Amino acid sequence: MSRVPDKLGFDFVQTNGHVQYVWRNGKWSDDAELQASPYVRVHIAATALHYGQSVFEGLKAFRCRDGRVRVFRPDRNAARMAESAERLMMPVVPTDVFIAAIERCIRANADFIPSYEHGGSLYIRPILFGSGARVPPEPADEYTFIVYVVPVGDYYAGTSAVTALVVRDADRAAPLGVGHVKAAGNYAASMESTLSSKKKGYPLSLYLDPLHHKYIDEFSTSNFVAIDANGHYVTPESRTVLPSITNASLMQLCADMGIPVERRQIAIEEVARFAEVAACGTAVVLSPVNRIVTDADVISIGTLTIGPIMKRLYDRLKAIQRGDEPDPFGWMH
Ligand code: COI
Repeated sequence: MSRVPDKLGFDFVQTNGHVQYVWRNGKWSDDAELQASPYVRVHIAATALHYGQSVFEGLKAFRCRDGRVRVFRPDRNAARMAESAERLMMPVVPTDVFIAAIERCIRANADFIPSYEHGGSLYIRPILFGSGARVPPEPADEYTFIVYVVPVGDYYAGTSAVTALVVRDADRAAPLGVGHVKAAGNYAASMESTLSSKKKGYPLSLYLDPLHHKYIDEFSTSNFVAIDANGHYVTPESRTVLPSITNASLMQLCADMGIPVERRQIAIEEVARFAEVAACGTAVVLSPVNRIVTDADVISIGTLTIGPIMKRLYDRLKAIQRGDEPDPFGWMH
C-alpha cells in the first residue's frame, strides 16, 4: 500500500527506516542495518559536531512508466562523496557499498516511492560524518554512513520562474576552501544570507566568486546555468562551485542535442544579455529564474515560465529519468 503523502513537498517524512554503516578500525561494517528510529546516538566529542567533519549527497529514484524503480546516476554521487570525504580527511565509502546502501534503503521504503502518475520522486540523502570522539581538531577514528529517503515533489512551487538576489555581503565559499565539495558546513554558512534574501521576498540567493566578487559562482543550493543570445548553454567555470551532477548531465544532453556549451567565467553584468537563466541541481532540477536583483538594478530575463531551450533540456532529462524515453547514456540504475 502506498504511504506517499498526497501533497508532495520537500521535507522530512518518517519512513520505514534508514540504513547505517560504521567505519571502525580501518574498515566499514559488513552489512547495513535498517534502523527504524530516525535518531542516532552520537558521542558528545564527535568531530562532526565540533569541527564540521560531515558531508552529504542528494540523488533521486523514480518510479518509471514501466513500473520499475530507477536511480539517477548513483555512481556519480558515490564519486562526489568520495571527493568530499577525501577533502575533509574522512574514509571513502566505496561505490559498491554506497550503491548497496541506496538499494537497501529504497527496497525497504518502496511504499514511499511516488507513483509514475503522481510525478514526484524518492529523494535519497546519503550522509557521512565523523562520529568518533576527538577533542583536538583532528580526524575522527570512527565514521558513520547513513542513507535515508523521503518522497519529494518540487523544491520551488511548480515551474514558475523565481527571483534571485545577488548577495553582496557574504561569500558562500573561500577561494581555496571547500566550496567544490559537499561539506555540510557550506550550507550552514549560507543559511544567514539565504534566509535574509527570502525575508526580502527573493527565494534564491546568487553568490559571486569570492576572490573578485565580479563573476557568478552559484545559487546557495544549486548551479547557475543560462542560455545566451546565440543559444549557447553557459555555466560558470569556478573552483568554488559544487560540481552538480544535474548540470553535467544537462551539458551531455546539450552535446547530444546540438546545443553549444560554454564553461567560463561569467561577469554579473552579462546576465542582462542572457535569454534564459535557471538554477539546476538534484532538488531543484531546472528551475527558471526570471529576475536577478543586484544592488544597482533589477535585471529581467525571459518570461514567467521556463524558456524554450531550457524546456527542451528539462523535458528530455525528465523523460529519461521517468522512463518515457530510452536512456542512451546509461544514467539510470
Ligand atoms: C540537492 O539538490 O540534492 C542538494 O543537496 C541541495 C539541497 C541542500 C536541497
